[in-house]
Amino acid sequence: MIYGTTKGTDFEKMCDGAAKAEAAGVMMYYALARMAREQGYPQEVTDTFVEMANQEAVHAGFYATLAGKYNADIWQLAETFATAEEKGEEQVKQFALALRSAGLNEAADEMEVFAKQEGHHGSTLRAMAQKYKK
Ligand SMILES: [Fe+2]
Ligand SMILES: [Fe+2]
Repeated sequence: MIYGTTKGTDFEKMCDGAAKAEAAGVMMYYALARMAREQGYPQEVTDTFVEMANQEAVHAGFYATLAGKYNADIWQLAETFATAEEKGEEQVKQFALALRSAGLNEAADEMEVFAKQEGHHGSTLRAMAQKYKK
């Protein structure tokens, strides 16, 4: 058990900084993966960046857990986030629509998929909370 073991100690701030740096790494490595694909590099390059991004995501979650960044009540948080994810579906849809009217059809096509994924995150969180909440 590592949850919250650095909360309130001298390490808490370091954990928070590390979590944020790792999360930024997730964003950057996924962007590099995408850019490498667009620039025509072999699949191996994209795959390697994706693998690194996934590892950074695990690291970010680790430090956030260590510092007890989120309340231990998983399902309360899940229900709060379900609402945000459901709203996110509409927000991303509107964003895609705006980009489409600016002529950015390729991005808009993909974002319409993302919008549905956000909605799915919402319903998944609700279903899990209903199943596991005590
Ligand atoms: Fe890392
Ligand atoms: Fe989401």
